[in-house]
Order: sequence, then structure tokens, then C-alpha cells
Amino acid sequence: MSATSEKNSIVIALDGPAASGKGTLSRLISNHYGLAYLDTGTLYRGVAWLLLSKGIDPADMAKAAGVARDFSVEQITNANIRTPEVGAAASVVAANPGVRAGLLEFQRRFAKTPPGGVKGAVLDGRDIGTVVFPDAAVKFYVTASPSSRAHRRWLELVKDHPDLEEATVYNDLMERDARDGGRADAPMARAEDAELLDTTHLSIDAAFAAARRVIDGVFRR
Ligand code: DC
Repeated sequence: MSATSEKNSIVIALDGPAASGKGTLSRLISNHYGLAYLDTGTLYRGVAWLLLSKGIDPADMAKAAGVARDFSVEQITNANIRTPEVGAAASVVAANPGVRAGLLEFQRRFAKTPPGGVKGAVLDGRDIGTVVFPDAAVKFYVTASPSSRAHRRWLELVKDHPDLEEATVYNDLMERDARDGGRADAPMARAEDAELLDTTHLSIDAAFAAARRVIDGVFRR
């Protein structure tokens, strides 16, 4: 692992399935090391939301690719992209190579010229260490058992949806894992040189401490 990538900009990549803890961990890492943070799932959710709000079928390959090509964060300010419907549509548009190509440049530009002029960025997603930044300074693959991920996600959602069954959340997660890991273009995968962080039995503090040990080890070299 080289300590920098993309012309002096430091990139830290975290990939893994939904509700593995990678978002929380990414935020902690970005604050601790003074790096910008990009949750790349919001880009796929943003494209899905734009399509749904325009009444376009997310499976329409050409239209979805067009929306991704012209995507800007301003278009989804105030949009509620954290709903199960948008999540399901996001996983459909994420399998579209035209959408992935459109969003690739956005992600690379973000890390190369991070907001606030900071020295680099933390990106989380499914293909950051494999496709978007194969030479990221540090890579993690964050995962947890399916039942613990479903339980975490259910605890988040049940506050607003008291009738929601944990089994429904589990089935949705399994469906999305299968779609994200089974697609032909940039499937969710652990890069060969990614550190595996299994958070099934780890508190967020313990996971963060483990991540810091890896990052500090790389930058001491
Ligand atoms: O992490 P999330 O649930 O917000 O992601 C939404 C969808 O986008 C999910 O189905 C996976 C997909 N995604 C992707 O294919 N590649 C990424 N780098 C990030 C998310």
C-alpha cells in the first residue's frame, strides 16, 4: 500500500455490505484524521430518488445513465433518500454500468480535490478499494453477520415504522446483498489488500480502535 494516491491526496477506502458499521466508522476516521467524507451510497440513492421523483423506471438503463452523468449533490438537497423504496431502487441503478461510469468521475474528483482543501478523503461504498481507488492508501472491508446487520438496521427503522418486522429487514438486506454482490459490473467485493474488519462482536469504539491501529501503521512506514 502506498501512503498516497491521486497526486498527494490521501484516500481511505471502506467497502462492505449494508449495516456493517462502515458509515459510522468512516465518519469517525474522517474526523480523527481531518479528511473529507463521502458516503458513495448517497450518489446511487440520489440517482434513484431523482428517477422516482420524475416518474422514470429505475430499470430504464439509458435514462438512469443520463441522470448519473449530470448528477450534482445540489439536486438532492432535502430529498429523503433513506427510505427502503429508494434503497431498493438504488440497488437496481447500481447494477447499470452507465450509472456507475457517470458516478465514477464524481467520486474521483471528490477525493482529488476534497472540500475545505483538506489533505484527502474517506470514501465508503461497495467498490471503492477494487474499482474507484484501487491504489487507496488504506483499505478496509467491513462486515458483520447477516443477522446482526439486520438487527441493527431494524433498530434504526423501527422508531419510525413500529410495525416493521425484523424478518422483513433481514430479507431485504439479503436481497440487496445478492444484487450488490452478484452484479457483473463492480460487484461488492473485498479487495485483496483490504483489511477485514468483522464488527459482529465489536463495539463501535473497538472497531474504530482497530481501524486506527491499521491506519497509523500504514502512515508510520
Ligand atoms: O450503502 P447504501 O445502502 O446507501 O447503498 C445504496 C445502494 O448503492 C446499494 O444497493 C449499493 C449501491 N452502491 C454501490 O453499488 N456502490 C457503491 N460504491 C455504493 C453503493
